[in-house]
Amino acid sequence: MPLYHTLGAIPPKRHTQFRKPDGTLYAEELVSTEGFSSLYSLVYHAYPPTIVKTLGEPYSVEPKIAREKHLKHTSLIGFNIQPEDDYLQSRKPVLVNSDLHISLAAPRKSMIDYFYKNSQADEVVFIHQGSGVLKTGFGNIKFVYGDYLVIPRGTIYQMEFDTPDNRLFIVESFSPIRPPKRYRNQYGQLMEHSPYCERDIKRPADLETHDEKGDFKILIKKQGLIYPYVYGTHPFDFIGWDGFHYPWALSIHDFEPITGRLHQPPPVHQTFEGNNFVICSFVPRKFDYHPLSIPAPYNHSNVDSDEVLYYVDGDFMSRKSVVKGQITLHPGGIPHGPHPGSVEKSIGKESTDELAVMIDPFRPLMLTEDAIKIEDENYYKSWQM
Ligand SMILES: [Fe+2]
Repeated sequence: MPLYHTLGAIPPKRHTQFRKPDGTLYAEELVSTEGFSSLYSLVYHAYPPTIVKTLGEPYSVEPKIAREKHLKHTSLIGFNIQPEDDYLQSRKPVLVNSDLHISLAAPRKSMIDYFYKNSQADEVVFIHQGSGVLKTGFGNIKFVYGDYLVIPRGTIYQMEFDTPDNRLFIVESFSPIRPPKRYRNQYGQLMEHSPYCERDIKRPADLETHDEKGDFKILIKKQGLIYPYVYGTHPFDFIGWDGFHYPWALSIHDFEPITGRLHQPPPVHQTFEGNNFVICSFVPRKFDYHPLSIPAPYNHSNVDSDEVLYYVDGDFMSRKSVVKGQITLHPGGIPHGPHPGSVEKSIGKESTDELAVMIDPFRPLMLTEDAIKIEDENYYKSWQM
């Protein structure tokens, strides 16, 4: 996050002696991204973060592709993904390309006996259902319905859930997730026209230093494999840290919609960006107020982009029937638009309570075996009059 933050104790000067009460040194670690060219933080550990005890056999979690090429409007019934106890095992990639993987998950249990680190991708975990705490060495972030948790690659974390009824929509991004550049000034500050500002960003709090030695299992994901590591020190042994690289959160409910006299185009809903894709939030808002306005969207051709909508809550004015957790994929190359009747129905309406997350990837998405299992096979015919 392009916003400085610090928690715990740090020395006045970087790269200088910083000692424990017993006179020994804390272990400094630079956590940097894009080489040494982008956001970074300096972390002070009770012990060096390098004490590997054992290394298990890696195993594959690579998505199994069922439909590599296609040109069909597709819908997935996301809540048909079955709940599973374990957080990692519950994550089912459904739509993937070389820029991002989109997964659905319904984990029942908190992570207790292991930690997880995604070393290949930033993660955006959208909390559709459930609440709890994202625990990291940088501090904790409490989450509730509607939060986007943004977890930069390399962050070791645990998810602690309050109840077993959790539904997550997860984006793994192989490039850094960031607020759109056009929302920020030359110093990185979010500008007046941005739909959210720094006050809306939830940063880590309640740093807990676990000064512990033992056996600590960390499952590390890299290049589609999970590497089971056992480290000799607790990964959350941060005494303190400072910098710009850390997990953060934004609630979809804090995204302030931009409206106009006429229908506003999708970029006004943009929330985050990665390389070759954007993430947008459709939130409750007043409709267009030109006397002859048509609130429903126009038909549109995504000439060079697929379009994924994940329906969260409320009535969706352009669709005939959608359910919570449903995904639609409208591939680039053919037009799509409002369902029959929804244009007329939208005229005169003053507001919408729809809530949805949209992802526009600029390279085609492939469908996985898990996606095919929850597909509504007749969706492509749903525009028939
Ligand atoms: Fe669309």
